[in-house]
Amino acid sequence: MNTQASRLIELNKLADLGNKSPSSKIISVCSGKGGTGKTFFSANFANQLSKLNQRVLLIDLDLNFSNLNVLLNHTSTRTIANFFEQSELLDDIIFSYSSNLDLIFGDSGRSDYPRVSREIIDYLFISIQKIQHRYDFIIMDSSAGADNLVIHQLKKSDYNVIVTSPEPTAVMDSYVVVKLLVENDSSAKKYVVVNKCIDPEEGENAFMNLSIAVNHFLKKKIDLLGFISQDTSAHKSILNQELLLNFDNDAIAADEIYRLAEQFITIAQMANNNQPG
Ligand SMILES: Nc1ncnc2c1ncn2[C@@H]1O[C@H](COP(=O)(O)OP(=O)(O)O)[C@@H](O)[C@H]1O
Ligand SMILES: [Mg+2]
Repeated sequence: MNTQASRLIELNKLADLGNKSPSSKIISVCSGKGGTGKTFFSANFANQLSKLNQRVLLIDLDLNFSNLNVLLNHTSTRTIANFFEQSELLDDIIFSYSSNLDLIFGDSGRSDYPRVSREIIDYLFISIQKIQHRYDFIIMDSSAGADNLVIHQLKKSDYNVIVTSPEPTAVMDSYVVVKLLVENDSSAKKYVVVNKCIDPEEGENAFMNLSIAVNHFLKKKIDLLGFISQDTSAHKSILNQELLLNFDNDAIAADEIYRLAEQFITIAQMANNNQPG
């Protein structure tokens, strides 16, 4: 890490600014298993929040398989990798997608990808602090799994939205993420989205199984954000490299994500009202 980033981290430690945001707005979207729909959810949730007059920054922080650029059919020349290797500042890698939605793209598959350490993640969060007044929500689409870097990132966020599919394997892997977060004393608020549900019952069963395990073995409570249907339009929108709302305004999943976005705005408002100061 070069001296500029190290100095920034030191200064922020001194100012005791290195941890959570003053108002709760950083959401990390995560999962145990890959392919549960993190990127689909992150992009469409961010878009729906922006349609509800929220100013949103969406960051592709999947260091292994970043594909927000593929989902949105966008070729980016400046990416989070340039920020990590400190050839670009955060402000210089932000793209305006629509009036309320800004994006930072990822860049996986580079053989010379900069090594990302906990300090680099700290550097990202400190840099976000300097621009966060411009946004109501900052959403991070994360890598699947729960390695040390992901756990570090999830802990530093205000909210973790765990996206699972209804299958027991995905639910089990979600439990492992929650367990590791609890073992690492994470205070981030955790919400579950069950995606790709054939019917509401599937979603309810999956959430109940996860919630019972978390309650019984970890003595913690986990909240449901909601269910998203397995939707052919969702699948086709991805094939078409379009956001669901643009592809099919009337899609069931688009309506469900809209309602999750509305609900999340209320959750965040209540959390911010209850914050001291
Ligand atoms: N609600 C949904 N309905 C139908 N297919 C979905 C839905 N959500 C995700 N998918 C499918 O799952 C695949 C994986 O989604 P993606 O967002 O890339 O997962 P992740 O980012 O967790 O790896 C997509 O390519 C899409 O085909
Ligand atoms: Mg993804």
